[in-house]
Amino acid sequence: MMKPELIIALDVPSSDKIPAIIDALPPAVQFYKVGLELFVAEGPLTFNYLLKSNKKIFLDLKLHDIPRTVARAVASAAKHGVNLLTVHAGGGREMLRAAAESAGEHHKSNLKIVAVTTLTSLNDADLTEIGVSRPLIDHTLALGELAVSAGIDGLVCSPNEASVFRKRLGNKPILITPGIRPAGANAGDQKRIATPEFAVNAGANFLVVGRPILEAPDPRFAAEEILRQMGI
Ligand code: C5P
Repeated sequence: MMKPELIIALDVPSSDKIPAIIDALPPAVQFYKVGLELFVAEGPLTFNYLLKSNKKIFLDLKLHDIPRTVARAVASAAKHGVNLLTVHAGGGREMLRAAAESAGEHHKSNLKIVAVTTLTSLNDADLTEIGVSRPLIDHTLALGELAVSAGIDGLVCSPNEASVFRKRLGNKPILITPGIRPAGANAGDQKRIATPEFAVNAGANFLVVGRPILEAPDPRFAAEEILRQMGI
């Protein structure tokens, strides 16, 4: 199993906030997540400082469209030097395969595609309303298995789901877990949370952390503490 890595969620409204964040964190932090808020605001300009600082980029756009459109978006991300990109497993086998193949065609970029399964904002009643009758956990596991069988490199999942996916899917798929809080910390709006140690032991390869580091009085110390709890 590869050494687990920490990803910092850049949940900020504009890219002028990025240099101060990166410069304040220990050099061991290599990976940063750009999500919809930043990307819709400024697009690939948000990558400039990250690329210049030799940091890796997790672009969390949760793509969900027809296969050809997703394949082309994947190609664009690869050209920008993105390292990890998310798609919705619910886009179906053909879309997932098209995303994986497009990344493979840009193999020099080493872009990996990871799938999200069931959004954590949804519950069983929400699924019923959109026509999904199987229990949420079954739906989530089935979507994860579909994505990996279609050639997707890994999954975003909760720390609680990680050990189940690891058991079912073996060591190869990348597992990325948000919802991390160091022991004793404020949960914020996260409902299902776990400690860094729990997530790593459950088989996660990447831990996504935002507020516990960015809103800490001393972000460098908070990051070092989480790295220590990850066993790094
Ligand atoms: O601040 P916090 O550590 O909760 O940030 C976690 C990051 O992971 C946020 O960018 C959030 O949008 C993202 N995320 C999540 N839960 C999911 C999927 C993504 O917290 N199920």
